Amino acid sequence: MTIAALSRASTMIRVRDLQKTYYVHEKAPGLWGSIRSLVARKRIAKQAVQGVNLDVEEGEILGLVGPNGAGKTTLVKMLAGIIHPSGGDAQVLGHTPWERHNDFRRQIALIMGQKAQLWWDLPAADGFLLLKEIYRVPDERYAKNLAYLAEVLDVTKHLNVQVRRLSLGERMKMELIAALLHEPRVVFLDEPTIGLDLTAQRAIRDFLLAYREEHRPAMILTSHYMEDIERLCKRIVIIDGGEFIYDGPLERVAKTYATQKVITAHLRANVGTPIDLTAFERFGELLPAEENEVKLRVARDAVAEAAAALLAGLPVADLSIDEEDIGTIIERIFRERRVESS
Ligand SMILES: Nc1ncnc2c1ncn2[C@@H]1O[C@H](COP(=O)(O)OP(=O)(O)OP(=O)(O)O)[C@@H](O)[C@H]1O
Ligand SMILES: [Mg+2]
Repeated sequence: MTIAALSRASTMIRVRDLQKTYYVHEKAPGLWGSIRSLVARKRIAKQAVQGVNLDVEEGEILGLVGPNGAGKTTLVKMLAGIIHPSGGDAQVLGHTPWERHNDFRRQIALIMGQKAQLWWDLPAADGFLLLKEIYRVPDERYAKNLAYLAEVLDVTKHLNVQVRRLSLGERMKMELIAALLHEPRVVFLDEPTIGLDLTAQRAIRDFLLAYREEHRPAMILTSHYMEDIERLCKRIVIIDGGEFIYDGPLERVAKTYATQKVITAHLRANVGTPIDLTAFERFGELLPAEENEVKLRVARDAVAEAAAALLAGLPVADLSIDEEDIGTIIERIFRERRVESS
């Protein structure tokens, strides 16, 4: 096998010019509108995904980031074979997802934080047994996987409780177990940590990293929590209005789009007299800061000058210069696009 063929062999998800247009019937408001819409229905097209291209490799966790309505769930649903695209092509493990071959379904998992997939009235353990039969997981492997997954997610003691009686975090962990019992090679995670407390979010993140180390699946993760993305994904796609506006290393987002930096001056304790900071406002924006601290957001090319002014004008004990956090940068990208297109 050539090197090119080898590297191709590890591409698990391949997407070419994939599109999805939803059609919705518009109705004028009120009763009269309802009656009229029965006879003359107006069909409106909504392009949710507009010709995107993507390759995801074995062992890669791709972060899919975008505002509400950007097209993330739509893309994930097409790749998991739940909905048909309106155009273009996708191959997941060599299969066309929406043909829903058994071989495809046995090797993928879709986890949606917004939607329960386990049976509500059964204890999770019974639901898992049903899935074992559906996916034909051999006894020994099933027992081993279940014990391992329940142990690391710390839900062993809840296995025999009806799913409807579990807390949100416990249920989400059960959903993860349900989705991963059959050791899928491709995993789609659509907001897996939504609504969870910080401890549960962290537990799920750590678990996903451990799962990746052991099984090397290709994963696509969407989340509105930047901490999920930062902890789990080396590469991200930023999607807005159904189009990819960035696809590359997470760390390059800051280098490409960060136009500002934040200077934090830690002042010597007991400065005494209140300090007048208005003189520094000409360099940039003063941010809320701790006591004995001054935070100034300035344009990149003004950093040196602003830092020098802070050092000269204040009793500075220590000074740090940081990139803006990634969430702030991404929010600004979306905001600026809104302004441009309006
Ligand atoms: N079944 C549907 N019928 C019609 N329009 C839909 C349907 N599902 C989604 N849409 C529209 O397609 C667009 C993309 O929706 P999608 O759910 O993919 O966004 P998202 O990026 O997952 O958003 P969020 O962050 O809120 O989950 C939205 O404008 C949405 O209103
Ligand atoms: Mg969504």
